Amino acid sequence: MKLTFKKGDIKNVPKGCVCIRLTDELKEARRFVRENGRETLEIGAGKTEEMNARKFILLCRAIVQAAKANKRKKIALQFDRTPALFKNLQHLTPEHISQLAAENFEMANFEFNVFKTKPKEGWDTIEEILLYGKSSALIEKATRKGQEIGKAVNACRMLANTPGGDMTPSVLAKAAKAAVKGLPVKVKVLGEREMKKLGMGALLGVAKGSTEKPTFTIMEYPSTGSTNSPQASPGQAWARKKPIVLAGKGVTFDSGGLNLKSSSSIYEMHMDMSGGAAVIYAVALAARLKLKRHIIGLIPAVENMPGNNAIRPGDILKSLSGKTIEVTDTDAEGRLILADALTYAKRFKPAVVIDIATLTGAAQVALGDHASALMTRDDALADELSRDGETSGDYVWRLPLWDEYEEKVKGTFADIANMMLGTGSRHGGAIDGGMFLWQFAKELNCPWAHLDIAPRMTAAPGDHLAKGAAGTPVRLLLRFIEQWTS
Ligand code: BES
Ligand code: MN
Ligand code: ZN
Repeated sequence: MKLTFKKGDIKNVPKGCVCIRLTDELKEARRFVRENGRETLEIGAGKTEEMNARKFILLCRAIVQAAKANKRKKIALQFDRTPALFKNLQHLTPEHISQLAAENFEMANFEFNVFKTKPKEGWDTIEEILLYGKSSALIEKATRKGQEIGKAVNACRMLANTPGGDMTPSVLAKAAKAAVKGLPVKVKVLGEREMKKLGMGALLGVAKGSTEKPTFTIMEYPSTGSTNSPQASPGQAWARKKPIVLAGKGVTFDSGGLNLKSSSSIYEMHMDMSGGAAVIYAVALAARLKLKRHIIGLIPAVENMPGNNAIRPGDILKSLSGKTIEVTDTDAEGRLILADALTYAKRFKPAVVIDIATLTGAAQVALGDHASALMTRDDALADELSRDGETSGDYVWRLPLWDEYEEKVKGTFADIANMMLGTGSRHGGAIDGGMFLWQFAKELNCPWAHLDIAPRMTAAPGDHLAKGAAGTPVRLLLRFIEQWTS
């Protein structure tokens, strides 16, 4: 989609281009009006005094969605804060608003149609948006940045939406390489042999039921020895700072393993690598935007399947950390592969570690469809991530990780159990996942947070986004990378 800045009056839009006019009617209001041969699409933005950043995000998407639904290809809009409708947004900088608008235009224009036959008249997507109004170099720069962010979110959604049969651990590793082609990011992929040598028994245990071999992808920005980007020279002080480590769950299909999922809960489990996809595109985006931050991305990837070689309930795995884990439920596999990733993170002497995972259905039970669960023992990190969630639109809400919960991850026959058996398993399942990961993260000796993105794995009704993967939390991670100073 092209975003073009236009000087002059929006009344003089070129032929074939639909003007968007925002009104203070209900947000559901949509109406085409014809005025001296030109077409205007009126969209309700809701009451002026009720406008806020959240509503603004949805409004930007609603504009694109309405135009798409009516098969319009080119739209024009007044792109500044002067309309009285936006007087409640005056506390946000014009740059931030422009960035948000561009991000959400892009996100709303995305459709996952690679597996569909193209209709004769083409896809219903917007080709160009003309932006009228007072602009500046800063605003244009922020808009371009927003567009890059939106594109990265969409690329993440594309990966996550890819069916399980087409998106295996090795394909996911290749996708990480493809995402950073031409950028100063180094990608290394560990195979089964190397993981065995290291002793990643938890990850390898989950992989056993599948004929697909596991992979463990390591991304580093800036790559050492990159000469093609002066901003990303590893010789510079920022590049030598302790890194931000992001670890994303890459379960390319989660059948549950021998604790097989039911028909209704197995359906969308090809998206169980959404955390891994978000890490891939967050690292790629930071490199594309030339951020002066040292970042490591880790993507442990497996397919969780039942099979003759699959781990059994009751099996005991030896993790990379040395701690033994009793597999009480083969469907609690995400925490097993992340345990080894968290231990692996230690070798980078990180400044901060964040893991991102579609870890529990319980997170969605707790929070509904509109926020990911944030868990950390570090209040400053919790505050930063909560703030970044609000500003980026990838909302998060904190759940506790108090000592009291630690009882639930103790093993009967091993050091730790991956799920508590008995009635306790149904209480606070998202916290149990976080508490399990904390057993490994506590060895890191640096701030750590866990984002359970299961509630935001797919777009919710009312998001004004295409069905399927939501691309969470690429926008939040970018914001965090920009803001975190250690
Ligand atoms: N990938 C699932 C969690 C999930 C569920 C993500 C729905 C997105 C939507 C995870 O591996 C899982 O199976 N979790 C179990 C944990 C339980 C066995 C302790 C769950 O949520 O039931
Ligand atoms: Mn599972
Ligand atoms: Zn899973």
